[in-house]
Amino acid sequence: MTQFPTFRGRRLRGSPNLRRLVQETRLTPEQLLLPLFVLPGEGIRESVPSMPGVDRLSVDEMVRDAAEAHALGVGGVILFGIPEAKDSEGSGAWSEDGIVQKALGALRTEVPDLLRVTDVCLCEYTAHGHCGVLEEGEVRNDPTLELLARTAVSHARAGADLVAPSDMMDGRVGALREALDAEGFPQLPIMSYAAKYASAFYGPFRDAADSTPASGDRRGYQMDPANGDEALREVWADVEEGADILMVKPALAYLDIIHRVKSETGWPVAAYHVSGEYAAIMAAAERGWLDGEAAMSEALLSIRRAGADLILTYWARQFARIMG
Ligand code: PBG
Repeated sequence: MTQFPTFRGRRLRGSPNLRRLVQETRLTPEQLLLPLFVLPGEGIRESVPSMPGVDRLSVDEMVRDAAEAHALGVGGVILFGIPEAKDSEGSGAWSEDGIVQKALGALRTEVPDLLRVTDVCLCEYTAHGHCGVLEEGEVRNDPTLELLARTAVSHARAGADLVAPSDMMDGRVGALREALDAEGFPQLPIMSYAAKYASAFYGPFRDAADSTPASGDRRGYQMDPANGDEALREVWADVEEGADILMVKPALAYLDIIHRVKSETGWPVAAYHVSGEYAAIMAAAERGWLDGEAAMSEALLSIRRAGADLILTYWARQFARIMG
């Protein structure tokens, strides 16, 4: 054991130069993905009250924000659609002229070099707000797989660079992989929301995406926050089915899971710093109770330190501005 006075931990904290030299963890804008909410229409920019600084955008306005993120060096955007109309199946999710498909087309021409990621799920498109086919109050697993695969293929055709299934049905990564391969997209990677918990921290997102379940909750398919070993089972299943990047969601309350997934798999790991985690810091900052910039930077750094290779965050542009 090294001991005082031979060991003085403060020696390496004595100047900014020394601190920078031995800094273990760095986070850069290219490791961040910015979530964007897209809705039909033109010139629309609606703020989301529970997510200060986040707007719901028509395609033209979304392109502006995406271009700004790109100019700031942000790694990419992940698109969430709010469709014109919802139905029991969620057919807006795979419609050729669906909102995400339109958004992809616009990004492909207007900001071609920006990485385009899509969230593959049905909850924004179903009238009941669940992430799959609902029969007698139950979300049916196997009939949902085909609809998710259809959605992913339609995103691929419209120009997605990476698809991210967030539904938590069993077998969906395999179903997507098979469909993408069969339709001519064997090179298109899948980022699976592998360990996604049934979390209270999604509240503000559901305001933004208009995806609160009309009845019941998501505990029948999303994971129990009490479980850690189960996350590893989910993660390995997704690896076997062909997932290329593994996501843990939410992030801050699950740093142990991020660490385990990274150290036990060695796979690329993403973490989603979700809406409620963002809102909590923003709300405290608005009241003057926290230094928002410092708290958000520290939160994101901790997620990276835990083992995430990339982070989905609503704060991506602000972070890039501070770094730049
Ligand atoms: C869709 C989906 C959700 C989020 C990402 N994809 C909502 C949910 O599962 O209820 C949440 C993201 C956030 O809270 O920022 N299934």
